[in-house]
Formats: sequence, structure tokens, C-alpha cells
Amino acid sequence: MIRLIILGAPGSGKGSQCKWIKEDYNVPHISTGDILRKNIAEETKLGIKAKSFIDKGELVPDELVIDLLKNRLEENDCKERGFLLDGFPRTLSQAEALDEYLNEKGISIDKVINLHVPDEEIMVRAINRRTCENPECKEIYHLVYNPPKVDGVCDKCGSKLFTRKDDNEETVRNRLHVYHEQTEPLIKYYTEKGILATVIGQEKFEDTVALVKAVL
Ligand code: AP5
Ligand code: MG
Repeated sequence: MIRLIILGAPGSGKGSQCKWIKEDYNVPHISTGDILRKNIAEETKLGIKAKSFIDKGELVPDELVIDLLKNRLEENDCKERGFLLDGFPRTLSQAEALDEYLNEKGISIDKVINLHVPDEEIMVRAINRRTCENPECKEIYHLVYNPPKVDGVCDKCGSKLFTRKDDNEETVRNRLHVYHEQTEPLIKYYTEKGILATVIGQEKFEDTVALVKAVL
């Protein structure tokens, strides 16, 4: 049982690291971004509300995301095996709401890993990212650093790869701005709680994996 948060700017590699952590630690991977995109694809009430925010690179309102997250944490897999949060919390109110929820349950977060990657590198990463469209797979590629063997096709499951709608230069710039303003203060918040470890996510993928392993 482990309870982890992966913090980091858009494109810092949160999803890429979560892929192996969830396997190694047998822990549910909860990406609020993935859940919101699934809701958009299925045109649910939540998806319809969230779409315009995500497309512009803005944050979805706290109350929507907090409810979504709490409902997800109530599921049995989280009660039995803990959780790996990717992209939540993203504001101080979200972090406080999470603490309040965990306190009520008498549980706490084991570690917060902060992936640090400079903004210039983030631009290169996001614009070259391709993601597997198969919801069971969602493998992440990079056209330069980690290209698929066959153009546009997932190595793992053979499904098509797509470019996320929010991965264009203008939107990524806004996502970075929003990150520095609203999410970066969480570094201080979790440092003061004594549970944050910063990992330089700029290295090659395997090197970042080794650094995260050392922290865990
Ligand atoms: P979300 O889906 O969470 O996006 P994000 O935080 O912007 O992060 P990304 O998924 O873009 O990047 P990542 O850190 O997972 O990096 P990845 O591993 O893919 O959220 C999307 C939107 O949903 C938000 O903008 C917001 O609107 C909304 N939302 C979500 N949660 C919310 C919340 N809590 N509150 C409010 N709104 C919310 O890697 C990126 C690229 O880099 C890939 O191409 C990868 O191959 C490459 N790469 C990764 N690691 C390395 C490495 N070590 N070396 C070289 N390349 C690497
Ligand atoms: Mg991600």
C-alpha cells in the first residue's frame, strides 16, 4: 500500500513515470487529465463543462475536480492498494481539500515527487508528444526522444496515435503560465510538510526512472 502524488509542470513527464510506478507498486494510477479527457470523449455532463477549460489550457474549476477525485478515491482499489495521483492537486484549495478528506479517513500521503523540467524543454516535449488512443493502453511517445517503430502506430497495442488538442504552442504556453501561478505554490506547501522530493526530470527517461526509484 502506497499513497503518492506526482507534481510537475505540463509535459514534465508525470504520465511517463506513472506507467512504471503503477506496475512496480501495484497501485492505481489516477490522472485527472485522463479522466477529464475520457469524459469529454463520452460527452458526459462533466466532460461538456470541462472541455472549454482544457482546450484553452486553463484549469477546470476546483469543485468539479475535487468531487471527481474524491469519488475515485472511494473505489475499492484505492482503499486496498493506495493511489498514485498524476495532475492532482493543482491548486492550494485542491491540496487542502485532499488533506481534509485524508484526515477524515485517518490516512496520509507517503511522498510527493516533484518532477522539475525547465520551460524551454517542456515546449519541445509537449509539441512532439503522441499518445495512444486506446484507453486501456495510453502509451506516451515523443517523436524525437521516444518515437514509435511505425509512424503513427502504438508499439504496444497497434492502435493509432494522436496529438492532444492542448499540445499546440499557444496552449502549452498558457498551461505553463497557469502552472507557475497556481500549481507551483504546492512545492512550498508539501516541502513544509516534509514529504516532498524534487527529481530533475530533464535526464533521459531511464535516468529519471533511476532518480525516482532512489527517492521511493
Ligand atoms: P493533464 O493531462 O494532467 O496534463 P498536464 O499536467 O498538462 O501534463 P501532461 O499530461 O501534458 O504531461 P505529463 O507531465 O504527463 O508528461 P508526459 O509523461 O506525457 O491535464 C490536462 C488538462 O486537464 C489541464 O490543462 C487542465 O485543464 C485539466 N486538469 C487536469 N487535472 C486538473 C486539476 N487537478 N485541476 C484542474 N484542472 C485539471 O511527457 C510529455 C512528453 O515528454 C512525452 O512526449 C514524453 O515521451 C516525453 N518525456 C517524458 N519523460 C521524458 C524524459 N525523461 N526525457 C525525454 N522525454 C521525456
Ligand atoms: Mg499526463
